[in-house]
Amino acid sequence: LDNGEMRVPPMGWLAWERFRCDIDCEHDPKNCISENLFIDMADRLSEDGWKELGYVYVNIDDCWSSKKRDENGRLQADPKRFPGGIRKLAHYMHDRGLKLGIYGDFGTHTCGGYPGTTLDKIKIDAQTFADWEVDMLKFDGCYSNATEQEKGYPLMSKALNATGRPIGYSCSWPAYQGGLPPKVNYTQLGEICNLWRNYGDIQDSWDSVLNIVDWFFNNQDVLVPAAGPGKWNDPDMLIVGDFGLSMDQSRSQMALWAIMAAPLFMSNDLRTISSEARSILQNRMAIFINQDPMGIQGRRIIKEKSRISVFWRPLSNNASALVFFSRRTDMPYRYQTTLSKLNYSTGSYKIYDVFTGKTMTLKDSTGFVVSVNPTGVVMWHVSAPAKWNLRQFYKGGRL
Ligand code: DGJ
Repeated sequence: LDNGEMRVPPMGWLAWERFRCDIDCEHDPKNCISENLFIDMADRLSEDGWKELGYVYVNIDDCWSSKKRDENGRLQADPKRFPGGIRKLAHYMHDRGLKLGIYGDFGTHTCGGYPGTTLDKIKIDAQTFADWEVDMLKFDGCYSNATEQEKGYPLMSKALNATGRPIGYSCSWPAYQGGLPPKVNYTQLGEICNLWRNYGDIQDSWDSVLNIVDWFFNNQDVLVPAAGPGKWNDPDMLIVGDFGLSMDQSRSQMALWAIMAAPLFMSNDLRTISSEARSILQNRMAIFINQDPMGIQGRRIIKEKSRISVFWRPLSNNASALVFFSRRTDMPYRYQTTLSKLNYSTGSYKIYDVFTGKTMTLKDSTGFVVSVNPTGVVMWHVSAPAKWNLRQFYKGGRL
């Protein structure tokens, strides 16, 4: 969507996967969906080095609202759990250089059973969100059908635009229509949404990550051309820092999300996250790769019988990223190849290993071995072939 928003994949935090629809503030005050939770996460983002790296969105998901609209037909936050209201929360974010995202659902109800946005409510809800000064809307699709969605998602895009406030627009539409053509029209999605959920919800398990990764790369011929600045495929939240992934698996999720040019919305508890998980999510080179301004989504280029696959993403300045991924469950696998086998042209390349920080120079024809842990990755940033250094060239008197 050409609204000037999200020219690189958005980054931040989203409540759903980790905190779901916990509304029991009486017994679980620290974890229930309430303004305190979002304030806590905002504090962590701004004080623990996240914001500087680009993690700026603090996003509310389902179960934030009151069970009823107000007397003017407007959505309203649950008064007990959000006593300050959404506008105050938005100001809290803006005062800290953060952004606030909110959640709505095109349908009679949200998936969690809260008031939904039917066709007749689209304008008023868009205006409410703009009045509250929110910066992003995730528009879910429970309790509406395909015919209604064809009207509702484009209408909300128009309605948000008409408010005059720039609001990033995340559409769950394709996820409700199987994610593939002919039911899903990616040209249209790119015109009306900044990002979209293509597939099912992530859960806190390695199985779930693998399932999502397989779907996205099995369908890469459809998905890769759909993505670009202002329009991103969304394989769902990062679960790094939760309970389901080992450290190797956490690096795998981070690496593959970077290759996919995916939005990086963490859903974890930033108050208690381990330093290991944090260093994966805060890896500068992985983020740099994810945020490449060309915004070309990467692909799986090799799937070996040995259960090693190789992923590649082109980056600006003739650079690129490579991920060697192991689906093995036995022991670190020594994968041997050359850059020319990975389609690199003749030359000598500078390699930066994203998770170890080691560098080396490698000729396209030189054989090398990477040792890839079970369910883990090795990730490289590859710079363009070393150009002739002209000063050296002249000094050497060769001209
Ligand atoms: C379905 C969405 O895909 C999830 O991300 C989450 O928003 C839930 N609905 C909330 O009910």
